[in-house]
Amino acid sequence: MIPFIDLAAQQARIRDKIEAGMTRVLDHGAYIMGPEVTALETRLADYAGTTHCISCSSGTDALILALISLGLKPGQGVIVPSFTFAASAEVMPVLGAIPVFAEVQADTYNLDPESLTVAFATARESGIEVVGIIGVGLFGQPADYSAIMKFARANDLWVVDDAAQSFGAQWQGTRVGMLADITCTSFFPAKPLGCYGDGGAVFTNDDLQAEIMRSCRIHGMGKTRYDNVRIGMTARLDTIQAAVLDAKLDIFDDELESRQRVADLYETLLNGVVETPKLAPDATSSWAQYTVKLPDGSDRDAIMASLLDQGVPSAIYYPVPMHEQPPYRNYPVAGGELKVTADLCKRVLALPMHPYLDSAAQNQVATALADALNQ
Ligand SMILES: Cc1ncc(COP(=O)(O)O)c(C=O)c1O
Repeated sequence: MIPFIDLAAQQARIRDKIEAGMTRVLDHGAYIMGPEVTALETRLADYAGTTHCISCSSGTDALILALISLGLKPGQGVIVPSFTFAASAEVMPVLGAIPVFAEVQADTYNLDPESLTVAFATARESGIEVVGIIGVGLFGQPADYSAIMKFARANDLWVVDDAAQSFGAQWQGTRVGMLADITCTSFFPAKPLGCYGDGGAVFTNDDLQAEIMRSCRIHGMGKTRYDNVRIGMTARLDTIQAAVLDAKLDIFDDELESRQRVADLYETLLNGVVETPKLAPDATSSWAQYTVKLPDGSDRDAIMASLLDQGVPSAIYYPVPMHEQPPYRNYPVAGGELKVTADLCKRVLALPMHPYLDSAAQNQVATALADALNQ
């Protein structure tokens, strides 16, 4: 069986460095907010090109910290694509705010800038004040932040980039981290830059936002530990995870190149077999997933079963749009219907993708997929 992702190959490559980092943490014993955390934040801010990096406990908590720092209030609306992982939309109701679901593009799977006007109008008709947008870099490619930022500035909205899947990618020569007002990422183990547990980070150039997020990740801490100046949470990154990420960051760019090589070979092998994922001009992807579109009307379950029989695991990201999930059904939907989202949820299929996938395995995937489609 081909692994869907292969964290073991990566671990074998850097295990010595990871063990040395973990041992250092065991030796000094500063398990919470130890020196590795601050060092990692400096490295990550340098990498992303931002003034501040605030590490935290998960990609979801990164989004919550970002929304708190932007002053999101209960009852206010935030536009978010419906074709995404739950966390992108979940963070609004957690803070008493309202997700306003928008459409995605059929080719990039990312937020369709043309849907923003519709989402804005739909929210207004329901009496909801829209204050911001969360764009998502789905499967590794950043959304069209040139158009999203233009709409946001014209309408006095802030923009958060949910880059849980797209950290490491670029849009028109600019790195993820610098594309929106605030960028959030996840270090969940399966992410392109993952740790060995839960973790996340927020990037911003705004000093006040950074101060609020640093405070809120430790219970709204003020100048001293038991000085609580605002309502916060426990949302710190463990020191041990920072040590793991330090080792992984050393090989991150090399792994991104390998992921691109894997995507290029898939593009060649699968051309004419299925619709392959497309990058917008001047966009790069960190290829968190390699998601193809099956022909309309395919029996996806049967194809997945056939692939599995041939030693090829596959996955569906995502089978149900967020606005159709029970807890989200009463929130506004741009124009009342999201046709592209509905179509994608029926047809997408993610294939094995990781930097250590070799060409023999990719040929096996392509042959198995062609075979499954012909059955
Ligand atoms: C698009 C997106 N946003 C947010 C998250 C949340 O990240 P975490 O699992 O670290 O909370 C994920 C994780 O899968 C994600 O894919």
